[in-house]
Amino acid sequence: MRQLPELSIAEKLVHTGFIFLVGLGLLVAEAYVYVTVGGKQGLTVQAVTEHYYGNRSSSTLQTVLPRMMSFAGMPASEQPKMTAAVNHWIANGESKAEYESSIKPLIAANCLKCHSVAMSAQLHNPPLASYDDVRKVAQVDTGMSLSSMLLNGMVHLTMLGVIFWIAGWIFSKARFPSLPKYVLIILPFIAMSIDFAGWFLTHQNPIFVWMVLIGGALSCPVALLEMFLSLIQMWFLKARPAV
Ligand code: HEC
Repeated sequence: MRQLPELSIAEKLVHTGFIFLVGLGLLVAEAYVYVTVGGKQGLTVQAVTEHYYGNRSSSTLQTVLPRMMSFAGMPASEQPKMTAAVNHWIANGESKAEYESSIKPLIAANCLKCHSVAMSAQLHNPPLASYDDVRKVAQVDTGMSLSSMLLNGMVHLTMLGVIFWIAGWIFSKARFPSLPKYVLIILPFIAMSIDFAGWFLTHQNPIFVWMVLIGGALSCPVALLEMFLSLIQMWFLKARPAV
């Protein structure tokens, strides 16, 4: 088999074009993950866990309540009462009866000036005018939905499968010791499978987040490494004379 330095100029050009464009695409994809999955602290284990598992100890309502109560100008002495009422209501299954007796009056007194149906349309915030409205923001955050995982899986597995195949095929012509070469070629495929399985398992239980982290670290980055090494060998190694 001809190796990378011995390829014709035309072959080198088509591989180089692919490596530049798709390599850039993979870097952009990594940046996209960093921005969408990463939290305020960047791509931490906690941010990745929350992306797939959610933050099940708290709902949107509980998370923003302290800020909103200050926003509403509630005296600091009254705030713990509302926090306790909301926590109690959510912990006890968000019943309609308890909503009517203890939640609705507090919201009416403090929140409706900005969260009525009419004001919400103007302020682009969720309305809190009915039981169903309030229950919606009281849902615990359970992370990425099953349908998003399937859609993302479809895109990732097919696109990356093809990209890893082409990158691996080019790299198979590199001058490289066999065993490490085999490992580098198969690694992105294995890593992507671990990553994909990790999404579903992490959605059930955060202990599986390591699968997403390892899978993510060894899929696209290894394919990028293969492309980079191929590019260098193609253009900078001396061709061996044909025999
Ligand atoms: C002065 C107007 C104002 C008052 C009063 C107010 N809010 Fe808000 N609220 C907003 C605005 C504006 C947003 C959207 C932007 C944001 O999240 O800061 C919002 C967002 C929210 C959200 C959605 C947050 C998210 O991330 O999806 C919830 C839940 C909420 N408020 C609850 C409350 C509760 C409960 C009260 C009463 C204690 C309250 N708000 C009082 C203006 C107000």
